[in-house]
Amino acid sequence: MIELIISFFLSTGLFVLAGKLLVSQAHKLEKIFIQDAQDQILEIKELNSNKIEGYKQSFQNTQSSIQDNMNLSQESLELLSQKLETRQKKTELVSNEIKELELQHKEILEKEKDIISSAIKVLEKKVNKSKEDLKQEIIKDMDLKTRASCQTDLTYYVERTKKFQERVSNNILKSTIQRVTAESSVDKSSRILKMPSKNSFQRILKDPSILEIICQTLGVEIEPLERDYSFRVSSFIMWNSEIAKKVLSKMALSFKFDASKLEATIEAAKKEFQRHLISVGKKALAELGLKDQSPYVCEIVGRLNYRTSYGQNILKHSFETAYLCSLIAAQLGADQKVALLGGFFHDVGKALDQEVEGSHDILGMEFLKENGFPFEIYHPAHSHHHAVEIETLEAQIVIIGDKLSASRQGARTESMEMYLQRVQGLERIAREEKLVQKSFAVSAGREIRAYLNNNQSKDSDMSKVASNMAQKIQEELVYPGKIKVNIIREFTSTSIANKK
Ligand SMILES: [Fe+2]
Ligand SMILES: [Fe+2]
Repeated sequence: MIELIISFFLSTGLFVLAGKLLVSQAHKLEKIFIQDAQDQILEIKELNSNKIEGYKQSFQNTQSSIQDNMNLSQESLELLSQKLETRQKKTELVSNEIKELELQHKEILEKEKDIISSAIKVLEKKVNKSKEDLKQEIIKDMDLKTRASCQTDLTYYVERTKKFQERVSNNILKSTIQRVTAESSVDKSSRILKMPSKNSFQRILKDPSILEIICQTLGVEIEPLERDYSFRVSSFIMWNSEIAKKVLSKMALSFKFDASKLEATIEAAKKEFQRHLISVGKKALAELGLKDQSPYVCEIVGRLNYRTSYGQNILKHSFETAYLCSLIAAQLGADQKVALLGGFFHDVGKALDQEVEGSHDILGMEFLKENGFPFEIYHPAHSHHHAVEIETLEAQIVIIGDKLSASRQGARTESMEMYLQRVQGLERIAREEKLVQKSFAVSAGREIRAYLNNNQSKDSDMSKVASNMAQKIQEELVYPGKIKVNIIREFTSTSIANKK
């Protein structure tokens, strides 16, 4: 136990000693730390005071530079204010000068007014007219002069425009005609039907009543031509002649032909010819780009191939007009297709006017309208002989194309007999005029020149005689195109100079 207690005390003493040692050691460490901290604080203080000193120095520097700048600005401000003052003085001087000049100008104007008014007074006294009257006279004079000069200019420009238009239209027509290379539109179909043999010719002639029935049924005339065993078949309606020719051809092929077969033969020939017309019409329309037309429209178009006017085949004339119109339309910027079709159909009424009463322009318009063609296509047909007013450019073109086709060289034919009749007729009409002294038909009967008796007539008679003659020609003669009536009244004065 004692040992335990001794060891207890011993160990406790040891602990106290160790504790004391630890405490003293801790005090030492504390002192060291405190010393370090104090040293650091001193260091920082020193650093800060150095920095503050630096800042103070730079502040002083900046302050002095600002002061310097301020001094400089002050100086320049003073300079500027001096300059401004000088300028203000100058401006004042100039404005005073201007005022002075304005006053002088006013005075001059006043003087001018006085001079002008006194001059006007002097003038008024001299011419004995007031200023107002003179003003009106001057205005009137200027107005007259201006009008005269405008009139001259206007006439000049109108003439120039006319010449230009003429040149342009001539060029258009020239180039159009040159480009149309259509074959002659003169009808060359023959009225003569040659029989295959002498026997067939004689067989047909055996029963003259058969020929009579054919003539009556079809409205044709049949003349046998013994010399070359042929028949001349003619009719007012050309396609009936063609049907009659077909009947005669069928008869020629049959050895036992008699009157009982005639009716059926005529019907068969009619049907056959109708099919032929439809195929001709269909082909013509296809050439113009018109497909799927009804058989009736095709047949009517086909008939144009068997219709003539002054020897001109109307189908050929229609094609020619169509192509001419299309070319003119291209040059004028009109609708080429409308001009082409308008030109082609313009005379389509001629396929109807021999069977139906009415003029071909109206019949053509009605036919086209009834068969679904639009206004722009039937209007040229309607208006090409001026039955109605022309409403479209293409219709106007069709009139030109029609005239070009009809009047181009060789387009129409007329017999020598007809030509002579016309020339004699023209001269007779001229002779019937009392004032006409002599007359000549010129330009192949397309112009009549009549000379008036100078002693018995006056200038005013000329137009009267011309219109009288034109009226008579229109009423009494048959002719293609136009005939010009030219009246001439000459005055000739002659005197002879003899040498002394
Ligand atoms: Fe016509
Ligand atoms: Fe025509």
